[in-house]
Amino acid sequence: MAGSFTRMKWVSIFVLLHLPHLAFTTLTEEDGLVPNGDFEQSPSNGFPSEAIVEQSGPTEIPNWKTNGTVELVESGQKQGALILIVPQGRHAVRLGNDAEISQDLTVEKGSIYSVTFSAARTCAQLESLNVSVPPASQTIDLQTLYNVQGWDPYAVAFNADADTMTLLFKNTGMEDDPTCGPIIDNIAIKKMFTPDRPKDNAVINGDFEEGPFMFKNTSLGVLLPTNLDEETSSLPGWTVESNRAMRYVDSDHYAVPEGKRAIELVSGKEGIISQMVETTPNKQYSLTFLLGHADDKCKQPLAVMAFAGDQAQNVHYTPNSNSTFQSSNLNFTAKAERTRIAFYSVYYNTRSDDMTSLCGPVIDDVRVWFSGSRRNGLRGLWVAILGLVWVLISSI
Ligand SMILES: *[C@@H]1O[C@H](CO)[C@@H](O)[C@H](O)[C@H]1NC(C)=O
Ligand SMILES: *[C@@H]1O[C@H](CO)[C@@H](O)[C@H](O)[C@H]1NC(C)=O
Ligand SMILES: *[C@@H]1O[C@H](CO)[C@@H](O)[C@H](O)[C@H]1NC(C)=O
Ligand SMILES: *[C@@H]1O[C@H](CO)[C@@H](O)[C@H](O)[C@H]1NC(C)=O
Ligand SMILES: *[C@@H]1O[C@H](CO)[C@@H](O)[C@H](O)[C@H]1NC(C)=O
Repeated sequence: MAGSFTRMKWVSIFVLLHLPHLAFTTLTEEDGLVPNGDFEQSPSNGFPSEAIVEQSGPTEIPNWKTNGTVELVESGQKQGALILIVPQGRHAVRLGNDAEISQDLTVEKGSIYSVTFSAARTCAQLESLNVSVPPASQTIDLQTLYNVQGWDPYAVAFNADADTMTLLFKNTGMEDDPTCGPIIDNIAIKKMFTPDRPKDNAVINGDFEEGPFMFKNTSLGVLLPTNLDEETSSLPGWTVESNRAMRYVDSDHYAVPEGKRAIELVSGKEGIISQMVETTPNKQYSLTFLLGHADDKCKQPLAVMAFAGDQAQNVHYTPNSNSTFQSSNLNFTAKAERTRIAFYSVYYNTRSDDMTSLCGPVIDDVRVWFSGSRRNGLRGLWVAILGLVWVLISSI
């Protein structure tokens, strides 16, 4: 036991010394836009608006295969009274009824890849996108606008089953106007790296530093939609359990308590993020985390509900002129070898400047650590009673 612990320690030291370098060099080679992922490359006969002759047949888009009504749209282009939104640069692509675009990518078999893309809906309320790396697929609901600019970056993760994968975006909608459908732009990919579990913390990626690709000059963060498969996540270690998304934020554009990345809980009680952490039954643990605001004009009050096993605690953020965050903790006694920790925002917050963009409390640096067993007896009894009450309540 002691021997294996020491060995583990040396392995972690080795990993600590070497992995950041390895991870850095391998990741940067592959991270970023996929070929023509911003749709700014001109088709051989020019963009539709500059084409000298009226195009016949399907739109050609360099580096992409298309099927159905796929259109290159330009910023400022109108459809009736509606100005089409182009998230970045001058061009983007629009998928009409049943239309799809796809591209084959060279990947490393067995790795997890996260795909970041920007999407906006156009004419219909209930637009959605089917993003797939067949046979895996995920439907992204574009009904909720998370911010007033009318588009959002999203990230979804896939497992590479082979050395190439086909990345496919499909509009599954059927509108009266067959050209109506989502606009997509800025498609980037990043190979995921799952950080090791720190030695004094049961939470993997508790500082949220490892996550989906983010464009340096995009200030909207990246939305993480529902992801029930904890093994294939754009946020290694974590699961977005609920119907609504989280926002992954960066320190270039938001107040982040620690490091360069954090999570903003933008969906009230419908945005739950969780992780199953390894614990030893009957031992006492502490869940600690940093709770703050993102400095995005989010209207207070801000509060989270934090869960650890059968314990739950409502934590309010107390505004403080000296800091954008505070430290919080929740004590619990583990009941099993795996304990679920989870967070959601107690309130549905919006920005005070536009009253529309969704925002919320920020969490960062989540830790679960063994906190000793002093005064275990009485506390254990209380925990047991609370646990029983919890079981009774949840079985009603
Ligand atoms: C194009 O889409 C249609 C309708 O979804 C489908 O039946 C057809 O197989 C697709 N063609 C190709 C080449 O993928
Ligand atoms: C972001 O930066 C890239 C590369 O510097 C540039 O091509 C792109 O146009 C920029 N996007 C925005 C929204 O400014
Ligand atoms: C999404 O696309 C994939 C691959 O084309 C397909 O297998 C899946 O059934 C689609 N899902 C929905 C909800 O249309
Ligand atoms: C902020 O910092 C100043 C100086 O360190 C201190 O006097 C003040 O009490 C702090 N304010 C709060 C709200 O903590
Ligand atoms: C949790 O336990 C620690 C000591 O182990 C104590 O300092 C802290 O106040 C406790 N937190 C709560 C919220 O009870």
